[in-house]
Amino acid sequence: MSFLLDYFIHSIAFKTCVCIFFMLNILHVQSFEPQYSLETRYIDVPLDHFSAVAKPKYFKLRYLINAKYHVKGGPIFLYTGNEGDISIYGQNTGFMFDIAPVFNALVVFIEHRYYGQSLPFGNTSFSSPENLRYLTTTQALADFAYVVNELKKNFFENVISYDTYPFVAFGGSYGGMLAAWLRMKYPYLVLGAVSSSAPIFGFPGMASCELFYEKVTQVFEKYGREQCVKTIKLGWDVIVNLSKTKLGMDFISSSWKLCNRLKTNEDVEKLLNWLSNIYENLAMLNYHYPTDFFLPLPAYPVKVFCDKLTTSYFNDTKGLIEHFSNAIEIYTNYTGKKVCNNLNSTVEDYSERAWDYQSCTELVFPKCSTDADMFITKPWNYENYAAQCYKKFGVKALDPGWALMAYGGKNLKYYSNIIFSNGMMDPWSCFGVFTNRSATVWAFNITDAPHHVDLRHSDPADNNYILDARKFHIQAIKQWLNMV
Ligand SMILES: *[C@@H]1O[C@H](CO)[C@@H](O)[C@H](O)[C@H]1NC(C)=O
Ligand SMILES: *[C@@H]1O[C@H](CO)[C@@H](O)[C@H](O)[C@H]1NC(C)=O
Ligand SMILES: *[C@@H]1O[C@H](CO)[C@@H](O)[C@H](O)[C@H]1NC(C)=O
Ligand SMILES: *[C@@H]1O[C@H](CO)[C@@H](O)[C@H](O)[C@H]1NC(C)=O
Ligand SMILES: *[C@@H]1O[C@H](CO)[C@@H](O)[C@H](O)[C@H]1NC(C)=O
Ligand SMILES: *[C@@H]1O[C@H](CO)[C@@H](O)[C@H](O)[C@H]1NC(C)=O
Ligand SMILES: *[C@@H]1O[C@H](CO)[C@@H](O)[C@H](O)[C@H]1NC(C)=O
Repeated sequence: MSFLLDYFIHSIAFKTCVCIFFMLNILHVQSFEPQYSLETRYIDVPLDHFSAVAKPKYFKLRYLINAKYHVKGGPIFLYTGNEGDISIYGQNTGFMFDIAPVFNALVVFIEHRYYGQSLPFGNTSFSSPENLRYLTTTQALADFAYVVNELKKNFFENVISYDTYPFVAFGGSYGGMLAAWLRMKYPYLVLGAVSSSAPIFGFPGMASCELFYEKVTQVFEKYGREQCVKTIKLGWDVIVNLSKTKLGMDFISSSWKLCNRLKTNEDVEKLLNWLSNIYENLAMLNYHYPTDFFLPLPAYPVKVFCDKLTTSYFNDTKGLIEHFSNAIEIYTNYTGKKVCNNLNSTVEDYSERAWDYQSCTELVFPKCSTDADMFITKPWNYENYAAQCYKKFGVKALDPGWALMAYGGKNLKYYSNIIFSNGMMDPWSCFGVFTNRSATVWAFNITDAPHHVDLRHSDPADNNYILDARKFHIQAIKQWLNMV
């Protein structure tokens, strides 16, 4: 009990400091986001963990460390990096830092191979199927295990056994899948995993394809009033109709400040996808305070977007296109510094190519839209999807059943010490784990919460559901540590 009390005292102190900073910052119209200090390190890891060759190739994997709260004997909190530069996760997983003092924990973030600075072939990492073939979840997990093993051997003095310094894995979204899988595959290296918003049940054959876009629509309905969803639905027809003429394409191109003018049907297709992605991201990142996670956004961006889209009157299709242009800027141009919109990307990040590749090979999440949601109707077809991937990367997608084979699908009853938490207002929650699967594999629903908000820093505006989730995590970790 005293342990939990410590945490509350700590979090109250933290909140007070947040409030003060918050007030100071209002003057500068800037949000307060805590900054975390992390030391950057690199470690040589094998390019291929699963074959012996005469001259094995190694590459530099980046990891980040904060030892400020670590006391000898304390656990290591390990974030299993996902599809982006690891420093982004380092700055957006405040929960680990908030509770590190309570546990005397060392905090470590490991970058995922092929992202950020951990590129096995430098700037040619994505240029051929040959160079991309080491981008798999099994290789990435083996990297994490390799680093854990090295840290156990070299970072600490007098290591007696693997249990001396218990590692607890944390991850959100794809990182959450990896945290859970790391515990499943390497239970002797990590004691447990806090896996937040992990779409681990989203593989082909595990969930129906309509769920994702239905959930995004629900988020817009809840936070953005009904008129917004109606306008978004109308928008698709208007865009498609206007794009049938060169004049219309030119109008959209200049109204939406596109870097490259729309010229072909393929360009229009790209525009529709880009817009869909923006809606998905707005729903996913619909946090209750301003954030800078991949890109700067206001609090409740779905509401802000919808307000801009629906509050003033428009009388024709061009007026509607201009309303969209105006509303989209809260996502694309919140800082007012964006010169033009590049349809290749919804976040300014080189890494999208690696994620694209992973989506084409292993991480296939079937999504389709129907009349029941606010998206342009789009069926799901594995063969078409695979064909597009082949065109893009020259690789064949894995058999849709591979995840079942590799990670057990929904059958998690043989595993232990994993928490699967989900924000119930996160589109990705539709592919999440909602029920306890074994004596120590638990599900935790967070009402009214977006994407892995429980892993973010404590904020005065957090609702009780989020606070409860964090308490649940703390108690579970404590329980795991008591087993050692
Ligand atoms: C790739 O990196 C090499 C060596 O650092 C550099 O010389 C080259 O210009 C880079 N190429 C591209 C396309 O950025
Ligand atoms: C789009 O064009 C079709 C056929 O010309 C028309 O029936 C429909 O009303 C148009 N939709 C919008 C939203 O302008
Ligand atoms: C539509 O509204 C704009 C400005 O709000 C106005 O300039 C234009 O004349 C209106 N068009 C019609 C057809 O009423
Ligand atoms: C971003 O905002 C600035 C300032 O309002 C504006 O000049 C610029 O055109 C906008 N760019 C885009 C792509 O929306
Ligand atoms: C978008 O990608 C295509 C092909 O991948 C490329 O040809 C085009 O130049 C890119 N456009 C921009 C604006 O970067
Ligand atoms: C989470 O919510 C789902 C769907 O609403 C429900 O079926 C499930 O029992 C809940 N799980 C927990 C652990 O509360
Ligand atoms: C799941 O397990 C947790 C932890 O033991 C427990 O608190 C919760 O009540 C369980 N949920 C269900 C639906 O059994």
